[in-house]
Amino acid sequence: MKCLMLVTTMLLLTTATAQERKDIFADPQNLKVLPKDISSAELSKTMRGFAFALDARCETCHVGEAGQPLETFDFAADEKQNKETARAMLKMVSAINNEHLGMLDDPKLQVSCMTCHRGVRRPMTTSAVLAEAMSDGGVDAAVAKYAELRENYYGSHSYDFTEAVLSNMAQSVARAGDPAAALTLLELNDQHFPRSFQNHWLKGEAAMMLNDKDLARKQFETALEIGSDPRSEAFIQQRLDSLQ
Ligand code: HEC
Ligand code: HEC
Repeated sequence: MKCLMLVTTMLLLTTATAQERKDIFADPQNLKVLPKDISSAELSKTMRGFAFALDARCETCHVGEAGQPLETFDFAADEKQNKETARAMLKMVSAINNEHLGMLDDPKLQVSCMTCHRGVRRPMTTSAVLAEAMSDGGVDAAVAKYAELRENYYGSHSYDFTEAVLSNMAQSVARAGDPAAALTLLELNDQHFPRSFQNHWLKGEAAMMLNDKDLARKQFETALEIGSDPRSEAFIQQRLDSLQ
């Protein structure tokens, strides 16, 4: 990906010198939030930053056709809703940095588009995305959504695939009175974290809520076999004893 970007940049540079292309970032006509005297280099950096943070393209916010040379775009036009939204976001980011975080006085701690967006248009936590899928289509939809996110984003910083995401969700689903759905989520977690003491413990608890004693016993035994700290192990042992 980095390599490809470098090649593209070099290609752009070569064509630019060959044809003495006009600098699309020089002399902006319709800046309402950014400083009107912004340098071409700074404007270019800002726009590429927007595109990177949202995994967007110029045409996401600007009038122009994908794949066509940027000279054919009308960057000054205000037709696209995303451009207006981006202006509102710019104002918000500046208010956060200048009015709310001003006292911190550490540029490293400044909020940027990336702070929230992390490469996605609708910046939501993994838990929020899964909860949305679950409320729309039940636990199967949440499981399918998890697979889709993993397929597309594993290894990126857009979503969180650590164990706690599904186990926290399972616990709140169980508390809300749906231990069967909780068990489904914990089984999914099991596929990715098969040797987790906590996950087997939680599966045992869900099985107990479902009155499935055999399954509960199996889960608690596996948890003990994996092992943890003495206090947690003693707790699981008590659970097992209560099942005798
Ligand atoms: C997330 C939305 C978004 C994306 C993506 C985006 N821009 Fe922009 N762009 C804006 C906004 C908002 C402004 C106006 C800022 C202001 O009003 O101060 C702007 C202004 C500009 C301007 C100045 C236009 C003028 O004459 O006033 C240029 C040139 C520009 N963008 C080029 C680009 C290029 C090239 C890309 C792709 C690399 C790009 N933009 C990607 C939102 C975006
Ligand atoms: C504090 C968190 C936060 C920051 C920082 C932030 N955004 Fe957003 N942005 C959001 C949220 C939340 C939404 C979804 C809002 C909605 O759908 O109602 C959103 C939505 C958007 C959208 C609309 C996307 C769509 O497909 O509907 C654009 C465009 C956008 N942001 C651009 C930006 C740009 C550009 C920056 C940096 C200048 C930025 N955002 C910084 C939280 C943030």
